[in-house]
Amino acid sequence: MRDVAAAAASTGPRVLPRNDPRQYDDLAGEWWRPDGAFAMLHWLAAARAALVPPSTRPDALLVDLGCGAGLLAPHLAGKGYRHVGVDVTRSALFQAAEHGVCVVQGDATAVPLPDGCADVVSAGELLEHVPAWPRVVAEACRLLRPGGLLVLDTLNDTALARLVAVRIAERLPTVPRGIHDPRLFVDARALVAECARHGVDLRLRGIRPQVGGLVAWLLRRVRAARTGVTSTGRAPRIVPTRSTAVLYQGRGVRSG
Ligand SMILES: C[S@@+](CC[C@H](N)C(=O)[O-])C[C@H]1O[C@@H](n2cnc3c(N)ncnc32)[C@H](O)[C@@H]1O
Repeated sequence: MRDVAAAAASTGPRVLPRNDPRQYDDLAGEWWRPDGAFAMLHWLAAARAALVPPSTRPDALLVDLGCGAGLLAPHLAGKGYRHVGVDVTRSALFQAAEHGVCVVQGDATAVPLPDGCADVVSAGELLEHVPAWPRVVAEACRLLRPGGLLVLDTLNDTALARLVAVRIAERLPTVPRGIHDPRLFVDARALVAECARHGVDLRLRGIRPQVGGLVAWLLRRVRAARTGVTSTGRAPRIVPTRSTAVLYQGRGVRSG
């Protein structure tokens, strides 16, 4: 009996520690499913790309730190940037390359790209996954040319963010279980101060999924799980909100 239980356990999905990057390998098939485990990353990518203006010069470069499978790519189409994505997860980079991203396997705390090479640096849903997030900020600012733009979004280091993004969201189909380690969430004031130290005046605003769209999306998911029939509908939009206590975006220009 014990052998059967052990065999069953060994064939089930492996349980990894919170924030273990190998989770992205196990979830590799989810990246580009619009209603899959990474659905919210699609909504956030659209909102992040909206912060990026069309490029004003030929050969403009956008460096996407922690690019994952390149979900930002379709939202940058027509803006005139060469999209370079840096990530530690190979299985995600293969998919990013298929979506036109020029990929570099590497750690966002030590990026193998030259100083001042980027017109835009993006760090979407990355900082809250990196224990040494100030090093990612230093790298992002190093990569930016003077006048270049930093855009990012992350989760705040607050009790409310831990409640909403971990305890609640991980029970819904919006966020995979165990993907976040709440101890890594990023204090908004510390982030602004760190960016300032590296010459970027970061302005923050709170963001959240639009409630009606989120409820309709969750109902569609519940219906699909019950009936096996998937129906299409509009993805929830990410909208600004007054509080930065849970999820927030940052946008800032490098001085110099
Ligand atoms: C939540 S996903 C976000 C992916 C993408 N930015 C998006 O919004 O779709 C976090 C990504 O960060 C990557 N990552 C985690 N730690 C990293 C590090 N130190 N350097 C580079 N990438 C990292 C993971 O492999 C994963 O692809």
